[in-house]
Amino acid sequence: MSDNTPFYVTTAISYPNGRPHIGHAYEAISTDVIARFQRLMGRKVRFQTGTDEHGLKMARKAEEQGRTARQLADEMSGYFREMCDALNISYDRFIRTVEDDHHSASQAIWQRMEAAGDLYLDRYEGWYSVRDEAYYDESELTEGEGGVKLSPQGTPVEWTVEESWFFRLSKYQDKLLKLLRTPGFLEPASRRNEMIAFAEQGLRDLSVSRTSFDWGVKVPGSDDHVMYVWVDALTNYLTGLGFPDDGGDMAEFWPANLHIIGKDIVRFHTIYWPAFLMSADLPVPQKVFGHGFLLNRGQKESKSLGNVTDPLELADKFGVDALRYFLMREVAYGQDGSYSPEAIVTRANAELANSFGNLAQRTLSMIAKNMDGELEPFVTTEADDTLLSHVADACRVQLPREFNDLAFSVGIEAWMRAVYACNQYVDEQAPWTLKKTDPERMKAVLLTLFMALRDLGIAIQPVVPDKAANLLDQLGIPTNERDYSALSDAEWYTRVAESGFVVAKPTPIFPRLEMPEEEGA
Ligand code: MF3
Repeated sequence: MSDNTPFYVTTAISYPNGRPHIGHAYEAISTDVIARFQRLMGRKVRFQTGTDEHGLKMARKAEEQGRTARQLADEMSGYFREMCDALNISYDRFIRTVEDDHHSASQAIWQRMEAAGDLYLDRYEGWYSVRDEAYYDESELTEGEGGVKLSPQGTPVEWTVEESWFFRLSKYQDKLLKLLRTPGFLEPASRRNEMIAFAEQGLRDLSVSRTSFDWGVKVPGSDDHVMYVWVDALTNYLTGLGFPDDGGDMAEFWPANLHIIGKDIVRFHTIYWPAFLMSADLPVPQKVFGHGFLLNRGQKESKSLGNVTDPLELADKFGVDALRYFLMREVAYGQDGSYSPEAIVTRANAELANSFGNLAQRTLSMIAKNMDGELEPFVTTEADDTLLSHVADACRVQLPREFNDLAFSVGIEAWMRAVYACNQYVDEQAPWTLKKTDPERMKAVLLTLFMALRDLGIAIQPVVPDKAANLLDQLGIPTNERDYSALSDAEWYTRVAESGFVVAKPTPIFPRLEMPEEEGA
């Protein structure tokens, strides 16, 4: 069953024009859950994230601050990387688009598009949104207050006229429509219709270089042009694999299995990106998934509302794993979600502290106290088998199936139901009573719970890596036996029978969190 094929997963790379916010943390965490999950499934995973540092938005922000774009990028990119490290994001490469190999890769894909006859020089005259770093057709714009023109994302647009290289996007319309209609290419499916409609109404050639500023990758052979920032940004996915060298990581990991992105940049990833790749004669990614946005108590975060949350503050306050758990559990992946400090505390206390943590703590304490920590083999009874098969089904079948489908919340819910079943089993079996009436039976009950904890701990690792590792350490599970194809229950009975497994006195894993004071109260 084990599948050790390569798996390449990426986040979008973020503009480091400011510090990271909760949306960046959400994307990094959810993609990290995928990477960790696939590793536990036995896949050879490559995971890339990073920062998207060129373009007019960065150039203008730096100018506003009276420093160079490079200075702004260096400082802010550092915060993004810090955030990833603090949140336990297991990336293989944190890419910065200012890096030399990225400039070479971008120039190489450019040259391949040029060799395909897909680039020509002309003049761009039209609308541009610096906030989105996107060109828009007049027909896409709406009117905001005072008649100002707004992009479909609600950002201001400016009229732009300049000499520019164009990419023959129109040429790829049919191939793109076919790709967009391929089941599984763009998910959630709700985003497909929008992209299909966009492509159906006719794709116009795309302006892919700029001449009015120079903060970008130089166009080969056209010194006064820099590439349109999305051309170089998207190429980051190849740079990290050593492109244009087509051996090594490129051969192993391209095409990407999965690009995780926000729902607002689906057009770039499912229209422009595949078209560039087709032009460069490279295979297109297998799947693009557009996740939803996080709202702060139902509101979009913005500087003017003063409700921007530093994700690291949340992690500091409640713990990295509580934050990770909350985000993956609370929000249906692909949809928008809402969060608040109280919601994080409520969820973490109910499910992690009171249910899972408590189960581990009381089971391991009883083993330490009543059995001197030593597990003994026993002959299973029906009741125990029922619990164990329920736990095994949740942990080894349902959770992996749902995670594989990116339905994290559903998978965690199945896992949680197994935790509840274990707690119910403890209450029903009352091992503290059995201690006097039937000590042999008590040992059987505790071993059953030990086995269940092992399954539960292994299964939840992608979501709460540190906490799960702590539990598995306390259970004495060797690190090389923690993947999803770890030993079966039967093998574990044998292990316990042969070696007389000893469990140390436990230390609590999930402390109860304090409910934050009501703001302004
Ligand atoms: N920087 C872009 C944004 O934040 C995302 C770029 S993802 C890329 O919207 F891979 F295409 F670069």
